[in-house]
Amino acid sequence: MAGALLPALGFQLLAEVRARTAMMRSLDGEALRLATLVAAEQRQAAEGVRQVLATLAASPTIRESDLTRCDRFLANVLAESGRYVALLTVSLDGRPRCVARPEDMGLDFSAPRFVREAVDAGRFVIGGHLPAQGARPAALAFALPYRDAYGQTTGTLVALLSLGWLRGQLDGLPLPPGAASFVVDRDGIVLDRRPRQSNDIGTAAPERFMAALRGGEMRTLLLAGMDGEERLYGLAPLGARGLELGVAVGLDPAAGGGAIRVEAARAGVFILFGTTLALLIAGAAASRTIGRPFRRLLAAASAWRSGRLAARVGQLGGPFEFRELGRALDEMAAASERREQDLRAARDEAVVTGQELAQQQARLREAEAARMAAEAAQHRFAQEQRMEAIGQLTAGVAHDFNNLLQVVAGNLELVEKAARGRGDAREARMLGTALRAVGRGARLTGQLLSFSRRQVLHARLVQLPTLLADIMERIVPVLPDDIAVSWHTVPDIWPCRLDAAHFETALLNVVMNARHAMPEGGKIEIRMGNLRLDAAAAGRFGVPAGDYIEVTVADSGIGMDQDVLDHVFEPFFTTREIGEGSGLGLSQVDGFVRQSGGGVAVSSTPGAGTSVSMLFPREAQGNGAPPAAPVVDLPGSQQRILVVDDDPGVLEVLKATLEDAGYQVTTARNGREALGLLRSEQPFDAVLTDVVMPGGVSGVDVARQASSLRPGIRVLLASGYSQMAEHGIDRRAEFAFLSKPYERMDLLHLLAGRNLAAPQGERA
Ligand SMILES: Nc1ncnc2c1ncn2[C@@H]1O[C@H](COP(=O)(O)OP(=O)(O)OP(=O)(O)O)[C@@H](O)[C@H]1O
Ligand SMILES: [Mg+2]
Repeated sequence: MAGALLPALGFQLLAEVRARTAMMRSLDGEALRLATLVAAEQRQAAEGVRQVLATLAASPTIRESDLTRCDRFLANVLAESGRYVALLTVSLDGRPRCVARPEDMGLDFSAPRFVREAVDAGRFVIGGHLPAQGARPAALAFALPYRDAYGQTTGTLVALLSLGWLRGQLDGLPLPPGAASFVVDRDGIVLDRRPRQSNDIGTAAPERFMAALRGGEMRTLLLAGMDGEERLYGLAPLGARGLELGVAVGLDPAAGGGAIRVEAARAGVFILFGTTLALLIAGAAASRTIGRPFRRLLAAASAWRSGRLAARVGQLGGPFEFRELGRALDEMAAASERREQDLRAARDEAVVTGQELAQQQARLREAEAARMAAEAAQHRFAQEQRMEAIGQLTAGVAHDFNNLLQVVAGNLELVEKAARGRGDAREARMLGTALRAVGRGARLTGQLLSFSRRQVLHARLVQLPTLLADIMERIVPVLPDDIAVSWHTVPDIWPCRLDAAHFETALLNVVMNARHAMPEGGKIEIRMGNLRLDAAAAGRFGVPAGDYIEVTVADSGIGMDQDVLDHVFEPFFTTREIGEGSGLGLSQVDGFVRQSGGGVAVSSTPGAGTSVSMLFPREAQGNGAPPAAPVVDLPGSQQRILVVDDDPGVLEVLKATLEDAGYQVTTARNGREALGLLRSEQPFDAVLTDVVMPGGVSGVDVARQASSLRPGIRVLLASGYSQMAEHGIDRRAEFAFLSKPYERMDLLHLLAGRNLAAPQGERA
């Protein structure tokens, strides 16, 4: 009997070995499949970066010498996407040119290897792990060289992809229980590791993995992983020329998931068969009359053993027990077959349908989102460039126009004064009317300058709820009765810094638009709230992520369609009748809000209404009131003043105005001439200078030289442009400042040492 049992036990062993081999084979496939999946995820992320960099490389803004524009452009893309830690361009000598990144972030960027490599190879390069530095989180670096119009490589675009984001993507890929995975850069530095460890990023992967990955082939290997546990690892190297990224996914043979369960079930069947057959063979030894049915049983068993569960013993002759045994075994085989089919189907469904489909869908969704983000960024960029071009044009016109107005106003004021002196009331009245018209012209150029973001802003710390209540007191009475207005604020609105007078104009522009959109009446609702924006949400407003105060004006008016929406911020765009609207309202709003560091968004549904949201950056904590403007203290008239302006008309009228007020005036036509006079012996008590002048010496240079050559001299700057920042000067702190076109009395007050009245609409 024992002898008869031996082959049965051998059979059982064979079955188990087979099951295990089959299981390992399926584990092999599974490990490779998962490694491919993770690698595909990496490849897709890298492709996304490459596309973004290629799009950026095609933009002229990147190559321009105007780094401010380039900075802003990159900052917009950064805000739009949310997955980058920084975007920058690097010149050929390895130094960063323009950079978009969180403010307080360090970037030690002394010509990294991968940047040189990208330039040398003239192609996109996955650079590798960049450890966290200061406020900057860890990142994966990418580089793409860009060329000028002649095809010469002139620099490199570098993107730092957030490792946090990359890891978030990988979280979407479920791994079976007991599995482990890691992603490494070209140098074997771990970018992601699962199961997650607290400080796994930046450690080095074992060399045995790197050696296998550098082989460049996809393969499986039984290796001890980073936790020392042995697993069957699927290895997937990435990179066109040499290893740029590597992926390893290891499966635990003891918990290999569905595939293993199927194989184990089959092994169980075989063990059962083996035991049954042991008994059978024992019985067969007793009788030779059962040779034929026994051979049939053996043939069926051998078929089952090799996995053909469809084989059957069929109707047996011989003793009753044999016939019964044959039937029972057939039934068992049929049941096993069904069970295996069910298991396989369930597994396939679970694994293939469940996992792969979900992952495919996730990838599709991701690709779609990336495409939409890229489209939105491109749309915004095109829009911005158009607005920028219009802005430059209007700014130029407005600037010249301002100078003309200055001349007209100055002369009119002098003539009016003379008329009043003669007691000619009629002439004085007519001149007064002319002066008011000049005032309107000045407001118009103000709006134009505001659109081109070159308005002079008197920003100060404000509490918006108080300011709003104050402004609404003036707006509500001018609205018709059939328009209901309400405004709400939430408690503890953050403080912000803005020019209250321009804010009032902006709010008025938006409310008036709402009113015109509701000829039959309706309601206007104004809401105000604190808003914390992440990068994605901030992209909608074209601002960096951060804290903002949002002021929204919503109406129940006619709304607008996409065509109108696309143009609302353009100056002179209006759908109103000729003479009814100038099309400058929203241009002012957009220009003012952006110049204040915020953003505007308009949403509208035709027939249902429109809402316009203005966002203003929260004033950083601990910043108190702005420093007071320096107190000017000029003792009376008969003072000697140097007046500098490149426009002869302006110069002439200033001279007349100041002489009329009792000053001794010396004029200079440009900065160089002014410096000559300041270096001479000629005494001066004050200098009044235009800011923007041709010839290389600006008004700011004159002002600074004046202060250092003649300590104690009074300096007054005048300009229609808010170019102080561009000239590196904080006008609040450094010099007294007058914005063009200014009125005679404002000029005289400032020179006499009195501060100008606070802009209308502000409360201290
Ligand atoms: N709340 C709104 N509802 C419907 N359409 C609006 C609304 N706000 C603006 N628009 C559309 O946008 C256009 C431009 O607005 P914008 O304020 O810049 O100029 P305007 O109102 O036409 O002229 P202006 O403000 O200079 O008198 C309007 O002509 C109108 O078509
Ligand atoms: Mg308007």
